[in-house]
Amino acid sequence: MKKINALDRQRTIYLDGAAGIRPALPVDFARLEQEARDKMHPEAWAYIAGGAGRETAMAANAAGFDRWRIVPRMLRNVEQRDTTTDLFGKSMPAPFFLAPIGVLQMAHSQADLAVARAAARFGIPYVFSNQASVPMETCAAAMEDASRFFQLYWSRSDELVVSFLQRAKACGCSGIVVTLDTTMLGWRTRDLDLASLPFLKGMGVAQYTSDPVFRRIMDQTDSSPKTKTKITWSAIQTLLAATRNFPGSFLANLRSGAGLRAVRTFISIYSRPNITWSDLPFLRKHTDLPIILKGILHPDDARKALDYGVDGIYISNHGGRQVDGAIGTIEALPGIAEVVRGKVPLLIDSGFRSGADVFKALALGANAVGIGRPYCYALALNGQAGVEELLANWMADFELTMGLAGCKNLEEVHNSELTQVS
Ligand SMILES: Cc1cc2nc3c(=O)[nH]c(=O)nc-3n(C[C@H](O)[C@H](O)[C@H](O)COP(=O)(O)O)c2cc1C
Repeated sequence: MKKINALDRQRTIYLDGAAGIRPALPVDFARLEQEARDKMHPEAWAYIAGGAGRETAMAANAAGFDRWRIVPRMLRNVEQRDTTTDLFGKSMPAPFFLAPIGVLQMAHSQADLAVARAAARFGIPYVFSNQASVPMETCAAAMEDASRFFQLYWSRSDELVVSFLQRAKACGCSGIVVTLDTTMLGWRTRDLDLASLPFLKGMGVAQYTSDPVFRRIMDQTDSSPKTKTKITWSAIQTLLAATRNFPGSFLANLRSGAGLRAVRTFISIYSRPNITWSDLPFLRKHTDLPIILKGILHPDDARKALDYGVDGIYISNHGGRQVDGAIGTIEALPGIAEVVRGKVPLLIDSGFRSGADVFKALALGANAVGIGRPYCYALALNGQAGVEELLANWMADFELTMGLAGCKNLEEVHNSELTQVS
């Protein structure tokens, strides 16, 4: 496992600069985002960068960080700095992990596999998405014993849910992250304007097409269309893409119509908007892995989650992709931390862009932070190497911020004071 020391990382960049070599991946987030945008297909960019509605929840995520300021403390001997912590029994070198992101093949052909390899290289936990482009078994095999989780979308098929839970356990996952905020897809204006939904091309459905229960359900699905689709060049391209994205031989898939059937089956069973708290015991019955609820934004929901005996709470507004106008996660954090009070690990994501953002979340009571879009952009720009470079930068940035704020370890970060700007 590769270790990062902030000063070495900084020195390497400057010494390379003396030899005329600039970092391959932009260090600054705004530049990283811009370069990724320049490189990506417009539909991929819209899907990854976009949010719901007028994207005010995305704005709230960003603005939330500006309302809190770190108050650095002096003369505290920060020569030895320890950023390590652990999550569900596995140690990690820094208090962050890679959040579940679906359809990564839109960013890079190696998709989830490149991310899994990069995460494992540093021992940063990776949450496999339910909408991954690569089956969880393939990613897990590339990670050896590095920490990973599986993110579940609650399907209409209980049998499929159970199958996913069993596969996650067999893959060595340390927990199940149940995403609660996407029982339906949000009103994503950028995708709607391009009339683009990657799943219709068979993208982001690898966990399904590799699943024996899904394959059985799919084989029982009627392949004749329920609604009339106009036969246009684009419709043919969509059909070909769905066929290409289905595992196995293209010609055999074309003949059997498997790609199209997989898409239809996926659309019909992917989510269950009628889930309620009383469904949670079903998960507990079918897995002994820790259960972490993702998408919690209200202290009362956190309280309820604890009452139901969940093992972790994950504050998220899905990067502002679901409810336009939703509360920013850093705003939601203090109230939820007050309820959780260290009883279970408290995770958070949405809008984190720097070491300082991570520091603030820890000072406000979070245990670990999920990195989202930044790693997609790094993946788009330079595959596995890009994600590795991003992780090295985040580790160095966080370590330096921590030390310069006067903290030697995460315990001191948790106890450090922030000031609020009105
Ligand atoms: C392109 C994209 C796809 C995503 N797919 C999933 C997913 O499959 N499952 C999930 O729980 N969250 C998904 N998320 C939400 C992320 O896990 C995370 O909550 C979000 O990216 C954090 O916001 P940020 O990217 O602004 O930091 C996705 C986010 C993006 C940007």
